[in-house]
Amino acid sequence: MNKQTIVSGIRASGKLHIGNYLGALKQFVELQNQGHNCYFFIADLHGITTPFEPKELSKNTLDVVATYLAAGIDPNKVTFFLQNHILEHATLAWIFNCITPLGELERMTQYKDKAKEHKTSINAGLLTYPTLMAADILIYKPNAVPVGDDQVQHVELSRVVARKFNHRFGKTFPEPQTFMRKPLRIMSLTDPTKKMSKTGDEALLLDDEPKEIHRKLKKATTASVSGKKSPGEENLMLLLSNFGTDEEIRNFMNAQSRGILKYSELKEVLAKDIADYFADFREKKKELLSQPDYLAEVLGQGAKKARTAAQATLTEVKQRIGLL
Ligand code: TRP
Repeated sequence: MNKQTIVSGIRASGKLHIGNYLGALKQFVELQNQGHNCYFFIADLHGITTPFEPKELSKNTLDVVATYLAAGIDPNKVTFFLQNHILEHATLAWIFNCITPLGELERMTQYKDKAKEHKTSINAGLLTYPTLMAADILIYKPNAVPVGDDQVQHVELSRVVARKFNHRFGKTFPEPQTFMRKPLRIMSLTDPTKKMSKTGDEALLLDDEPKEIHRKLKKATTASVSGKKSPGEENLMLLLSNFGTDEEIRNFMNAQSRGILKYSELKEVLAKDIADYFADFREKKKELLSQPDYLAEVLGQGAKKARTAAQATLTEVKQRIGLL
């Protein structure tokens, strides 16, 4: 791949689990290390479209910042910042609101789902979420936007917005490509027919200490579902393929095909592998969280870099529109 400009936002809602790690964070680090021009930010303005507590919001944000840095995001290689620090995102989002037909926003599946879920508090931000996202993206004129499958429709909308803007005011924005992150379906440990989410013993959190990892894996469900292969077994093997050594993977696949796979052994090996894999991460994250001044400094530097690019685009946009 040639050097690309890549933009992606991260919603900071609580602790990350290993599904989030494999599905997003690890791939961001890979893109960074391939030398692309990456803009990665915490989408804190999107974070307030659904109910939140101020204290938790700031805590979660710092936690996610520390998580990304501890997992290998290098602020010297990428532009890493908070969305709310770049005021230009919100200004451009407003301009996009004024060229986006209401119907385009009303038909977004995430909006429809969230509106159902938060029946008593449907705010306008929930509806205009995709125009802010289009601004986040287009302001850096990227080639590619890596997202999970639930955000593909929003990236498509950003192309619609780019086209509309270009058509009305002259070619300004490239139409960015969606770049689907590897669709990795890490399933819940307690109900492996569902995707892993963040609650209870169903998820292995990146912060979990080795003891906790062993405990959760030990009680992971491996029962087969109505005569079919055990979805829990598949899930554990998928985890092993990501965290195990080549030899372990070979051995367990071999045992699996001969029908002599011992779940207790697989869980034991997997727990050790995962605990080891994240050992440095846990150390580093604790250290980072104990240095809030350093985190603020990193975010300040990131914002400075992002702002330069964002201001250039916004200036161009204003000229095109006739805003003085
Ligand atoms: N909406 C995205 C999510 O929930 C986060 C996000 C905000 C984003 N702005 C973005 C992703 C711009 C990609 C590009 O995951």
